[in-house]
Amino acid sequence: MQTVSTIQSLRSRVKAWKQAGLTVAFVPTMGNLHQGHFSLVEKAKSVADKVVVSIFVNPMQFGAGEDLDKYPRTLEQDQLGLEALDTDLLFTPTPDIIYPKGLDAQSYIEVLGVSEGHCGGSRPGHFRGVATVVAKLFNLVQPDYACFGEKDFQQLQVIRTMVEDLSIPVEIIPVATKRLASGLAMSSRNGYLSDEEKETAKVLFQTLNETAAALQSGNGEIETLTLEANTKLTAAGLQPDYYNIVARQTLKPANLGDKQLIILAAAFLGNVRLIDNLQINLD
Ligand code: PAJ
Repeated sequence: MQTVSTIQSLRSRVKAWKQAGLTVAFVPTMGNLHQGHFSLVEKAKSVADKVVVSIFVNPMQFGAGEDLDKYPRTLEQDQLGLEALDTDLLFTPTPDIIYPKGLDAQSYIEVLGVSEGHCGGSRPGHFRGVATVVAKLFNLVQPDYACFGEKDFQQLQVIRTMVEDLSIPVEIIPVATKRLASGLAMSSRNGYLSDEEKETAKVLFQTLNETAAALQSGNGEIETLTLEANTKLTAAGLQPDYYNIVARQTLKPANLGDKQLIILAAAFLGNVRLIDNLQINLD
C-alpha cells in the first residue's frame, strides 16, 4: 500500500488505474481506524478493483469547543491495519492541501432537509463541513463507489442526497454498523471511555432495542416511548442529547402508517458524545 499526501500523486495513481479500465472504491475516514472502518474497506474491496482510503480529520466539521484538537491520530497503526487488508492507496492530506484558503473558502455544500435536526440540530455547521469535504474528496479521488457506515445514518442520508441532487457520478454503498459484543457501536470516540463507562454506554443500544421491540409489537405511542427511553438513559448515567423516532427516508417525525422507521439517538457520557441508531421495518 502506498501512502500519498499530495493531490498530484493521488490523481496520477487513480488516473493510471482508470486508464487500465479498473474500477475504484473509496472509503473516507478521519483515522483511528477500528473494525467498523475495516468493514467498509472490505466492502469496498468486494465491489471494485482498487480501494482508496483517506484519513483526514476535517476541521470544517468540528464546532467550537468540540474535540478537533484531541481527536485521536494514530497513523502508523492505521497504516498497518490497512496494509493487512490489502488496501491499494491511502490518502493523508494536511488541512492546507484540502483548504488552501483556510476555512474561509467561498464555496460550500449545504444539504437542506435531511441535515436538519438530530446531529444537525446539536452540531450547527457540522453537515456543511461533512458535505463540503466529501464533495472535495470525491472530486480528488473520482471513485466509482464510496462506502459509508450506517452508524452515522444522518451523514449517510446527507451524502446520498448530495450525490443525487448534484448528479455526482458515484454510487454510495451503505455498510451495517459494527458493534462490540456488548452491543456498543464501535467508534473512535470509544477510546475516551473507561471500561466502566463502556458498560454504561451499552445502555444506548439496549434502549434502542427496547423501543424497537415496543414498536414492533404494535405500540405506536411515540411520545411515551421517547420519554421512557430518555428516562432509561438518564437513570443509567447518560445525558440524552436527542432520541428521535423518525421516518427513515426523510428523517422527519414518523406519521401513522409509516413502515420504514429509524430511531436516531445521541447521548453524552461525561464529555463524550455517543451516537447510534436502529432501523425498524413495520411491514
Ligand atoms: P469517521 O468517523 O472516521 O467514519 C468514517 C466512516 O466509517 C463513516 O462512513 C462511518 O459511518 C463509518 N463507521 C464508523 N464507525 C462505524 C461502525 N461502528 N460500523 C460501521 N461503520 C462505521 O464519518 C466520518 O469519519 C467523517 O464525517 C467523514 C465521512 C470521513 C468526512 O470527514
